[in-house]
Amino acid sequence: MQKTVSQNFKTLKGEITIPSDKSMSHRAILFSSIAKGKSIIKNFSNGKDPHSSIEVCKNLGIDIKINSDRIVEVNSNGLKMSKNNLYCGNSGTTMRLISGILAGQNFDSVLTGDESLSSRPMKRIIEPLRLMGANIESNDFKAPIIIKGSELHGIEYNSKLSSAQVKSCVLLAGLFANGVTTYKEPQISRNHTEILLKYMGAKISCQGNFTKIEKSELNPINTEIFGDISSAAFFIVAGLIVPNSDIILKNVGLNPTRTGIIDVVKKMGADIELFDIHEICAEKVGNIRVKYSPDLKGIDIDSTIIPRLIDEIPIISVLATQCQGITKISGAQDLKNKESDRILTTVTELKKLGANITATQDGMIIEGKTKLKGNVLTESYRDHRLALSLYVAGLISENEISINDFDWINISFPEFENLMQEIRG
Ligand code: S3P
Repeated sequence: MQKTVSQNFKTLKGEITIPSDKSMSHRAILFSSIAKGKSIIKNFSNGKDPHSSIEVCKNLGIDIKINSDRIVEVNSNGLKMSKNNLYCGNSGTTMRLISGILAGQNFDSVLTGDESLSSRPMKRIIEPLRLMGANIESNDFKAPIIIKGSELHGIEYNSKLSSAQVKSCVLLAGLFANGVTTYKEPQISRNHTEILLKYMGAKISCQGNFTKIEKSELNPINTEIFGDISSAAFFIVAGLIVPNSDIILKNVGLNPTRTGIIDVVKKMGADIELFDIHEICAEKVGNIRVKYSPDLKGIDIDSTIIPRLIDEIPIISVLATQCQGITKISGAQDLKNKESDRILTTVTELKKLGANITATQDGMIIEGKTKLKGNVLTESYRDHRLALSLYVAGLISENEISINDFDWINISFPEFENLMQEIRG
């Protein structure tokens, strides 16, 4: 589906509630599937990706019902071998996390994905799982992945990557492995897995970027998923760059391992405020008020903060076009392995809009402030976050822009346009 965006509105004003966090929805469904008994998950994501996790768990014999209010009931009596291949769609989180769970079962599984997922690297999970004793075959370290259930043992893993998917995969395998598994990463990546596993009774302890886990049984949960800061990010940037905007984003997850975008926009000089901060299941949640900020400045964004904003780089690049001076993003080479090569795709499409942006080996350099032009057809490359970022760019471009394959936003954020409609004044 091709989408056209134009400036046929004056400003953005009002309050919206940000929809359910994708990372948490995946974890809640996967972990309650291995926790024997009945779990209740409220405010489950409408995104296609978390629904891939539901389908995979159903195929593994878990009874999962979802009602029209997006309340999910999971009844688990343990996983059973699937007669079918486990299709993970576009979802890297589904494939990498379930691999950790399946490696230590007493049955075999085959994991498949769509074209994009089948081209993404899986060596990062296959290597540590093999060190734990897993029996895994793949197509040159890409999907399909064939896992023959084995007895696993704990390892001390020192990861070169700061990746929550790799960390979660190893920790989940550690839940089924004999002995102790430890995991160390260069910078701490999102720690939802650690927090939720602990909340569900796993024997896990964390100290900064070091985590230790032992074989454990999980207890079922009754939880409510908070809003996704990675979805809020599109509204944060829209509020900052659309003249005279003043918006409130409610119920946003504010786990410090995810709030790199807040630190970045504050450093750029944004008028942004967090309030009503509270906790849901040991996770920080709150509201965000954002106002139009015409005097933003370019900044350096380096490897020390990248894991805390990894999914926000396409939208931060749009913001950087509206900052005075240079924004340099470095240490972000893993962007090449996302749903698209996000260094190449972001730079190519923002250039079409007239941005002064250059790709580097591990990031990009953007010089602003630039008036974005329109009358262009842009590509989303079937990457939900790029499609959403281009839409936000379209809100301030001189003429309308079109975005190809815009419907891929449904991977993470099907509610986006309705919410945008609510605050367009
Ligand atoms: C995710 C981790 C990140 C992120 C992805 C979701 C997760 O991937 O890009 O959208 O839920 O664990 P990496 O761990 O590969 O950086």
